[in-house]
Amino acid sequence: MPVRRPFHITKAVVPAAGLGTRFLPATKATPKEMLPVVDKPAIQYVVEEAVAAGLSDVLMVTGRNKRPLEDHFDRAYELEHALAAKGDLDRLKLVRESSALADIHYVRQGDPRGLGHAVSCARPHVGDEPFAVLLGDDLIDPRDQLLETMLRVRRERGGSVVALIEVEPAQIHQYGCAAVEPVGDEPGVVRVTDLVEKPERSNAPSNYAVIGRYVLDPAVFEVLAHTPPGRGDEIQLTDALRVLADVPEAEGGAVHGVLFNGRRYDTGDRAEYLRTIVKLACERDDLGPEFRAWLKSYVNEEMQA
Ligand code: UTP
Repeated sequence: MPVRRPFHITKAVVPAAGLGTRFLPATKATPKEMLPVVDKPAIQYVVEEAVAAGLSDVLMVTGRNKRPLEDHFDRAYELEHALAAKGDLDRLKLVRESSALADIHYVRQGDPRGLGHAVSCARPHVGDEPFAVLLGDDLIDPRDQLLETMLRVRRERGGSVVALIEVEPAQIHQYGCAAVEPVGDEPGVVRVTDLVEKPERSNAPSNYAVIGRYVLDPAVFEVLAHTPPGRGDEIQLTDALRVLADVPEAEGGAVHGVLFNGRRYDTGDRAEYLRTIVKLACERDDLGPEFRAWLKSYVNEEMQA
């Protein structure tokens, strides 16, 4: 089989079909990826990141609450008309921006049977090309360019690429965990030799946790088709990557890891969601100065209480 390196990657898959149980009842009728982070839904940051990395074909894997997602990335004629009539051109621009961002497609994941299953729903759209996966509730600061680095690593080394962060040993049970070895010629890039989904601290092969960015070889689809439900009775992408880590590169295998120590915001977790909003609001030119002043006095009051 030929090595699959030459492909120019243009497609991004954004799974957004999970149940979002940690955010109930807010996510009863709305996907958690639509929750606002300051004044934009989390998933818009993710689509903007894909587009900034050159991936303008975006496939969203949606679940039972797909309407708000589709509406957000579609034109909103009545709203646009009302804003235009009021002469509110700034807001009109904001409303139009999300519908002109990318070429967005949708596929339905009938049953939320896990992230691996969500990715396999993308097969008819993606075909035999490498592609990126961006989790819709995991935000990477645009200043940190993680996806660009991962796409370069795929171009140079083939196979699939995961993003890894180092976590405290006590936290590793919340993540997929990778056993790694150095590749020698590039600091910050490692070869992944094994993967395990949400291990107990005592069984974890390392402190390297997989976060929500992947560049995948299309060979993953065939592996997913034969991956039985794993942890939590879900089809785990981690389990498929574990198989690919042992397959020769010429057959679409090999998994590399890009070590990331930039800014990441996991908006699927309530406490982290709150911290994200506070941090991003503080940095905003329009909201930041007033919000920071309020926050400072609030924290001072709390310290004295
Ligand atoms: P999570 O495990 O964080 O999502 O999946 P969840 O299951 O919705 O969250 P909780 O734990 O119940 O609160 C990571 C990503 O994979 C998507 C989710 O939407 C999220 O973006 N996902 C997960 C799917 O698209 N389908 C699935 O079957 C599972």
